[in-house]
Amino acid sequence: MDRNSRIFVAGHRGLVGSAILRRLTEAGYTDLVLRDRSQLDLTDQAAVRAYFDREGIDHVILAAAKVGGILANERSGAEFIRDNLLIQTNVIDAAWRAGVKKLLFLGSSCLYPKHAEQPIREEALLSGPMEPSNKPYAVAKIAGITMCQAYRKQYGFNAICAMPSNLYGPGDHFEPETSHALPGMIRRFHDAKMAGNPTVTLWGTGTPRREFLYVDDMADACLHLMEHYDSGEIVNVGPGEDIAIGDLACLIRETVGYPGTLGHDLDKPDGHPRKLMDVSRLFATGWRPKVGLEEGLRRTYDWFLEHAAPPAPAPSVTQAAE
Ligand SMILES: NC(=O)c1ccc[n+]([C@@H]2O[C@H](COP(=O)([O-])OP(=O)(O)OC[C@H]3O[C@@H](n4cnc5c(N)ncnc54)[C@H](OP(=O)(O)O)[C@@H]3O)[C@@H](O)[C@H]2O)c1
Repeated sequence: MDRNSRIFVAGHRGLVGSAILRRLTEAGYTDLVLRDRSQLDLTDQAAVRAYFDREGIDHVILAAAKVGGILANERSGAEFIRDNLLIQTNVIDAAWRAGVKKLLFLGSSCLYPKHAEQPIREEALLSGPMEPSNKPYAVAKIAGITMCQAYRKQYGFNAICAMPSNLYGPGDHFEPETSHALPGMIRRFHDAKMAGNPTVTLWGTGTPRREFLYVDDMADACLHLMEHYDSGEIVNVGPGEDIAIGDLACLIRETVGYPGTLGHDLDKPDGHPRKLMDVSRLFATGWRPKVGLEEGLRRTYDWFLEHAAPPAPAPSVTQAAE
């Protein structure tokens, strides 16, 4: 990929896609072709083929997908499998047909088996039963990875697949019902602060450990892989370290400036004690993350306040009569 390459960032208005756009622009890539869903519905095969035939695209970063937290996955499994299968099948196939030079497909750490050995190596994919709650999403994404590998093997198509950890940052989704865990916590601490609630209650003990990568680091890793990685082997993308959910909650409480206490609902399950990916394959290519969790949380909360925080209720002021 060189600075004159014509690059299609699919899903450029999402969390990852918007960060990739920032990173490509910063790196001096100027020929970026962008379409939002209203201009090009990626589930529409004919429209996607026509778009690729017309645009002369060199490189594709596929960051469009149907994505959501546990509740969204449990409620909308049909859409998670259908939309993801359609989007990725249409884009990968049309890109290959149109002679695209290289494509990056995004999987996720949640595709790995439920009981994968920690830290999770790339070889663990499809080595055991998967987590049932996001199975429709995971099955679709694994099909996307397999499709990339099959197109590479049979057609010589340079499609690469990254497996990001949990991501967070500017552009994230903070809706209480559908968001991922970290932005959901930011929203709950913020709401509690605004409402003056004395306690925010966490599910479980807070001891399970998870990993979180700042989305601009993810975008940097995507660019690095587009420039330096040409293998059919999937590659984990994460910070290489994890944090206990209770410690993360304390960090978020400090970032938000919530003065109350942290409670624990011990009737709620803890989930897996640990989920951490082995990132030695990526680190061996020379890439490292740059933004630590505290800094990333601060930037994310600043963005939330500016773009996503619900309006504060109007103060009920009783004006003294003159
Ligand atoms: N977020 C994470 O923690 C995480 C972790 C691991 C992997 N990933 C992977 O990273 C990728 C991007 O995720 P994200 O968090 O950036 O998701 P996101 O914020 O929800 O963005 C997804 C983007 O895809 C677009 N899109 C969805 N359906 C479309 C369609 N039919 N036609 C055209 N565009 C469509 C959305 O457009 P609209 O705005 O119009 O809906 C949105 O811009 C996904 O492949 C996901 O699996 C994310």
